[in-house]
Amino acid sequence: MNHIPVLLKESIKNLNIKNNGTYIDATYGCGGHTKLILSKLNNDGRIFAIDCDNQTIIMNKIIDKRIFYINEKFSNLEYIINKKFIGKIDGILFDLGISSFQLNNPLRGFSFMNNGPLDMRMNQNSKLTAYDLLKITSEIKLSCILKKYGEEKFHKKIAFNIKKYILNNKLSSTQDLSNLICSIIPKKNRFKHPATRSFQAIRIFLNKELDELKTALHVSLKLLKKGGILCVISFHSLEDRIVKHFIKKYSSYNIYSNLPLTETEINNLYYINNKFRLKIVNRIFPSQKEIFNNPRSRSAILRVAKKI
Ligand SMILES: C[S@@+](CC[C@H](N)C(=O)[O-])C[C@H]1O[C@@H](n2cnc3c(N)ncnc32)[C@H](O)[C@@H]1O
Repeated sequence: MNHIPVLLKESIKNLNIKNNGTYIDATYGCGGHTKLILSKLNNDGRIFAIDCDNQTIIMNKIIDKRIFYINEKFSNLEYIINKKFIGKIDGILFDLGISSFQLNNPLRGFSFMNNGPLDMRMNQNSKLTAYDLLKITSEIKLSCILKKYGEEKFHKKIAFNIKKYILNNKLSSTQDLSNLICSIIPKKNRFKHPATRSFQAIRIFLNKELDELKTALHVSLKLLKKGGILCVISFHSLEDRIVKHFIKKYSSYNIYSNLPLTETEINNLYYINNKFRLKIVNRIFPSQKEIFNNPRSRSAILRVAKKI
């Protein structure tokens, strides 16, 4: 199945595209959002299309002289964009997570629905695979990862069994892991596929997804021009919490809602006020129609903020 872009019209409408503007699609994927931005640009407009997955860029590339592809992590945005664009960007879009292009390829090991190696690397140049991670990580640390990044209730039992099986060479594929988890989680606790939470946890930790997001949001503030728009589409509460707190921290709304202020807070306020500030613009959920047509969108939240 092809990747269907989530909250496509809503995010591009909120980016408020200027036809000669400079935009960053920090999560190029299959180019769904980039394509719509491109359709609104004239010959002076440009898009920096970022993706840490080289295969994704190669297979989904749109040839257009206004698109500049960069195969890098978005946390490195500040260093990969030419210095002359710092503070000059009209809009930045993040559409977090992985695409159907990655999920549906069994060789990438992201899905418990397709059998494949336990890989789960977004960036195939990084050395550590999910298999390596499960093998070298201690039981207690693994249990913490499953609890923190997957909110998995049966984290202790799953971690114990993963270590037991992997050290006996009985766990090497997505199917092995999925079957193991299914054998642990009681039937009455199954609201979605039993492996959903553990797969999510391992993927998030392996690809350092939350650290990536935190760093990239701060960098985005530097890159945006005054009036520039930040759009972030997140897919689970851990991501959304980071985006929400970040926008609140830098928005004037937050400053006044946190009264009374201590001396230190007043100093921080001065710093924040004079450095960068954001205005909360929007929070949008997918419509029932979008969820019906693309169930992957059901947990999406788009947050929009403007640099002021
Ligand atoms: C949900 S997909 C984006 C889909 C895209 N908006 C579209 O409509 O086709 C997310 C993409 O972001 C990439 N990605 C995720 N985290 C990244 C990071 N830290 N740095 C760079 N790319 C990242 C993934 O490899 C994936 O291709």
